[in-house]
Amino acid sequence: MKSMDKIVSLCKRRGFLFQSSEIYGGVQGFWDYGPLGVELKRNLKEAWWQDMIRGHNDLVAPAGAPAPFEMVGLDCTIIMHPQVWKCSGHYDLFHDHMVDCRESKKRYRFDQVRGRWCERGDKKIFVSTLAEVEQELDEVRRRAMKFFKLRAKNADELTISDESLTLDQLDDTESVLAPDAKSLGTLTEPREFNLMFKTTLGALGGEDDTTFLRPETAQGIFVNFKNVLDSSRVKVPFGIGQIGKSFRNEITPRNFTFRSREFEQMEIEFFCPPDQSQAWYRYWRDRRMAWYTELGLSSESLIMREHEPAELAHYSVGTADIEYAFPFLPPGEYGELEGIAHRGDFDLRSHMEGKLNPDSPEGQPMQVELNEHGKPKYRGSGKDLSYRDEATNEKFVPHVVEPSAGADRGVLAFLCEAYTEDEAPDDKGNMQTRTVMKLHPRLAPIKAAVFPLVKKDGMPEVAQEIYGELKQHMNVFYDDKGAVGRRYRRQDEAGTPFCITVDGESLSDKTVTIRDRDSLEQTRVKIDELSFALIERLG
Ligand code: GAP
Repeated sequence: MKSMDKIVSLCKRRGFLFQSSEIYGGVQGFWDYGPLGVELKRNLKEAWWQDMIRGHNDLVAPAGAPAPFEMVGLDCTIIMHPQVWKCSGHYDLFHDHMVDCRESKKRYRFDQVRGRWCERGDKKIFVSTLAEVEQELDEVRRRAMKFFKLRAKNADELTISDESLTLDQLDDTESVLAPDAKSLGTLTEPREFNLMFKTTLGALGGEDDTTFLRPETAQGIFVNFKNVLDSSRVKVPFGIGQIGKSFRNEITPRNFTFRSREFEQMEIEFFCPPDQSQAWYRYWRDRRMAWYTELGLSSESLIMREHEPAELAHYSVGTADIEYAFPFLPPGEYGELEGIAHRGDFDLRSHMEGKLNPDSPEGQPMQVELNEHGKPKYRGSGKDLSYRDEATNEKFVPHVVEPSAGADRGVLAFLCEAYTEDEAPDDKGNMQTRTVMKLHPRLAPIKAAVFPLVKKDGMPEVAQEIYGELKQHMNVFYDDKGAVGRRYRRQDEAGTPFCITVDGESLSDKTVTIRDRDSLEQTRVKIDELSFALIERLG
């Protein structure tokens, strides 16, 4: 049975993930990748870069566009000109609503505090909690019993509604028992909280020198659009990809790495003529979904969810999320892995003319937002970010389709999917439960482990030689400690697809066994042909 507790514990025990600054008690929302985790995450990012950017060669393009179309990369800075965030809309609009509790002095994200209406006699209160959904009802009951000073034998005096609601679904918070409070009505009115981390440029920095750690990698791509066009001779439609850190001061980071304050994104901004944008939107939705299943996420655990109009980000005219059934969610619920947004010309036009007004009349091109003096609220760069099509001589501001994936959420989804408990024979041939991480060979941190069966009779020397040879091609691991069955188990937990064992026969006939992590099959191959055999199996 897959449980988040078991996955988190394996991640720590085997060195996939550690809490940041753990020896000082940790810091919420920040995670470090251990020796296995860093390899897994690099492999995921490299698979993305190879499949989407460097190795991209898709011969099918929609809307009659030439194929393969071009995909190039960028690596931009985390700190950018403060004006970037004003024109992008993040300065004014990138916020969550939070509430503070006057009693506990704690702060919560308004839309994340859940709870239920509880009634005893003629008194009805809303008992809130931050507990996971599975524990919500028990926790609400426990707190309500305490609030009404009820003993277990009088539990039937309490009625708890079936419906779980969030604070933002209530009309007011007067009857709310806050998650860590003893009295009612202790929550403040919801307030906006900008999620960008502030920082100051230079030693003497004043208000004008305040800037932000980027909350998305996308803006670096938009502000370099013209540089890429002029330096690479790419032609619209084409895409620019970037992998890098982003930072968001999340009010309630949680669910392991799912909602972190520092995380990595893998983003593509795909620039196309306006009349092709719907076709490209559909193209990227399908292509990105297929990428996850090709790397091993099961299609039963993935859904594509089209956003409701009210959910759309300020720049978006259409967004679909690829969502995964993370085990920390109740059955039937999914968490976002990647968003594919149709951003129209919002970003390029904002960086050209000044921030566009998301409240512009529907059905018309967005207008630049004006201040109280009727002047642009935030001036754009004034640079011409439009594109002239050489063939038609038509000039337009390209529309953008943005597949935006989280590297850390991707790693988490692949870890959850890979976690498996099955049966395998131990050293004495008895069947035992084993924990195995069934990671796709492209993602597996270690591709093969090399073992001498015993630590004598020349076996370690042969194994070391094989290890040295394989290291030139892939990440391999050498282990000569303990019973061989135990060594297999350790590699199963690390997700290593193949184990190579040097035994007595190896010394005479120059062969070794390759043991397959998933089928447990063992095949003998010649040492001379081992690298080739492994590379072929790894695909
Ligand atoms: N440029 C568009 C953009 O940033 P987003 O939906 O806010 O869109 C894209 O973020 C992806 O980045 C998400 O689908 C998720 O995978 C990842 N992501 C966003 N916030 C995150 C967080 N706090 N922790 C981990 N990953 C996050």
